[in-house]
Formats: sequence, C-alpha cells, structure tokens
Amino acid sequence: MVNFDHVYERKGTNSVKWDAVNKMYKEDDLLPLWVADMDFKVHQPILDAMISYINQGILGYTTSSDSLYEAVQTWQKKKHNYIVEKEAILFSSGVVPSVAIAIQAYTEVGDAVLIHDPVYHPFAKVIKKNKRRVIRHSLIEVDGKFQIDFEKMKEAIQTNDVKLFILCNPHNPGGRVWSIEELKKIGELCASHNVLIISDEIHQDLIFTPAEFTTFNNADPSFKDFSITLTAATKTFNLAGIKNSMAFIHNTELRAKFCNIQEINQQTEINTIGLLGTEAAYRCGEEWLDDLLIYLQKNISTVEKFLQSEMPLVKIMKPEGTYLIWLDFSAYALSDKELENKLIKKGKVVLNSGISFGPKGSQHMRLNIACPNATLLEGLERMKKSFQAD
Ligand SMILES: Cc1ncc(COP(=O)(O)O)c(C=O)c1O
Repeated sequence: MVNFDHVYERKGTNSVKWDAVNKMYKEDDLLPLWVADMDFKVHQPILDAMISYINQGILGYTTSSDSLYEAVQTWQKKKHNYIVEKEAILFSSGVVPSVAIAIQAYTEVGDAVLIHDPVYHPFAKVIKKNKRRVIRHSLIEVDGKFQIDFEKMKEAIQTNDVKLFILCNPHNPGGRVWSIEELKKIGELCASHNVLIISDEIHQDLIFTPAEFTTFNNADPSFKDFSITLTAATKTFNLAGIKNSMAFIHNTELRAKFCNIQEINQQTEINTIGLLGTEAAYRCGEEWLDDLLIYLQKNISTVEKFLQSEMPLVKIMKPEGTYLIWLDFSAYALSDKELENKLIKKGKVVLNSGISFGPKGSQHMRLNIACPNATLLEGLERMKKSFQAD
C-alpha cells in the first residue's frame, strides 16, 4: 500500500498551488486546497523513467515511440474497454491547449460553443479568447448530483445555432461520472443538430466504485464520427507540469483539421519528458492508482464527517469521480466576494471560488482533497474558523 500520508514541502518549487497563491491573494501562510494537482509524490517508476532519460545526458529532439502508442492503447483497452487505433492518437501539450486547437479547427469566429454551467473555467476563457460565443447551459441538481435538463439543452442549441459542445466527463467541478444513458442522449441530441463534441476525459481514471465511467466514443459506435476525445495521464498520476495529453480522433476529416491547426501553430513537436512520463505512467501506474483511489475515498469521508458535525450549513456534492468536491455555502447568504474573503482572510485557506466556473457556481467553492489527510483536516479546521465569531 502506498503511503499517501507523508506531507511534502512544496513551497519554494514555483508551484502555482503553493507559491503563486500568496502573491495572488497578498496573504501569508495560506493553506491551498485549490488548483487541481496533488500533494503526493509521483510513483517512483515514473520518476525513474524520466531520470534515466536525463541521465543519458543528451536531450535532443525526439519523436513519439511505437511503445508509447502501445502503452496508451493497452491502457485504454484495459481500463475503459476502448479500442483506439494508432493513427487516431495525436499527442499534444495539454488538454486545454487541445481544446483551443479544436475550437480553431472546427468553428469560425463568432460561432456559438456550448458548455455546461458550472464547468471547468478554462473552457469559457478559451472560447472567448478565440472570439467565439460562450453559450452556457445550466446543470440542475437532483438528489445531490448534477443532471442535465435535455429539453433546455436542446433549446440552448437551437436558439443559439450551436456548432460545438464541450463535454466534461467526469464533470469538474461536480464530480459527476455521466452514465451511458446520459452520454447517449447527449450524442443523439448533438448529432441531430450537427453539433460536434469535444469530450474532455482528463479525469477518466479517477472513478469511485460503484460509479462506472464510459468513454464518450463507447456510448454508441456512431459517436466517433462527430466527436474528439481529450485525455491525459497527467491528472491521474500527478504529472501536470510535464504538459502532455492525447487527442483521440477517429474521423479522418476531423483529424486532418486538428493536425492542420497544430501545424499552423507549429505545435507538433511534443516535450520529450511529457511523452516519457505518459508512457511510464500507463505501463507502471495501475497499482499505485488503485491505492490512490482508496486514499481519496477516505479523504472524501473525512470531509463528509467533518462538515456534518462541524459545519452542517455547508452542503456537499459527493463526487463519483475526480478529487474535487463541490461545496454549497449558500446557507450563509454571503456574496461571492464575502465568502472568498472569509475563507482567505480569516481562515487562511484557499479553495476555488465557485463563481469562476459559471453563474451557477455562485455561493459555492471547489475543494481539492488530493493531499495528505492531515493537510485536509487542517484545511477543514481553517474553513470552520472562517465562520466562527471573533
Ligand atoms: C476538466 C479538465 N480539463 C483539463 C484540465 C487541464 O489539462 P491540461 O493541464 O492538460 O491542459 C483540467 C485540470 O484541472 C481539468 O480539470
């Protein structure tokens, strides 16, 4: 069993989560439970693969090896029962960069791109930066889980003449693992309105039983014709800094358009360490991941128990996947700024402000639980302190 309890010092490593945070909020001694990376050490065989490459001493231009493709294909087949042929796999330097490439490849300036509300905040930013229109469709909360109102989604597509939909599966920040039935409905709705789909599946390996993850392309064989899937080993194995990801594009026309934008921007050469880390993770990471999932579930229980007994006004959306928890602070009736200030200035704890994920995120916060249990407990105590009378 991997020991995830060890507390590592991350300050002084130029970490966004630990170092940029104090400058950003102009406060000292903040405890960061925000940016989605983990405070756990990378599995040693993955580090060894990168170290051994560096130790051979020459770091010239490299290409993606056959063994890398094979590692990706084997992982996808074994973990997700997904068969992806070699030519459908394109490497890239991140899922968000790939979202940008896809937007440029498949839409024109001024086109409408649909996203859920709330959803991972860079989606809206990338759409806007590329001068496309952001159309938000609100998720609804039923029995403590996000659900899709398909009638409203259809209305949003028709009213705005949507060209592209960005799906987040599993959903960040809600931790929903969309069911095969939901994916089928999404696919059918988009197909009937000629809407292309980007399925961001970066959290696909962070799933808690009994939830079952279905890769969008497996929900129905025809979905491969009008969708692209983006994923990476970086979220699962805490390798975000090596900037590597994959796009699975089966449709040859969609693939050619994606490659064309990569070439226009000269983004075809991928960082060597990124490629090596991805291969090593998929080859050696399975048991480490099994242990990680057990630890994350323990941390989820810690949050549930703590909030129930110490902060019963905070409502928790229990995640089916990801290491993120969506917390509802609306019972405190604070503005988003007041809520953030309380946590940061009084409690000295940093969560992601819910409003950054879309208007539906107002009065919510996203908590990152991928840290040692002791760090998490300290963060929860700080949250409690934020709301105590002076
Ligand atoms: C849904 C989702 N997509 C993409 C990313 C980032 O991907 P990358 O670092 O490969 O750009 C994240 C990171 O948290 C995420 O949650």
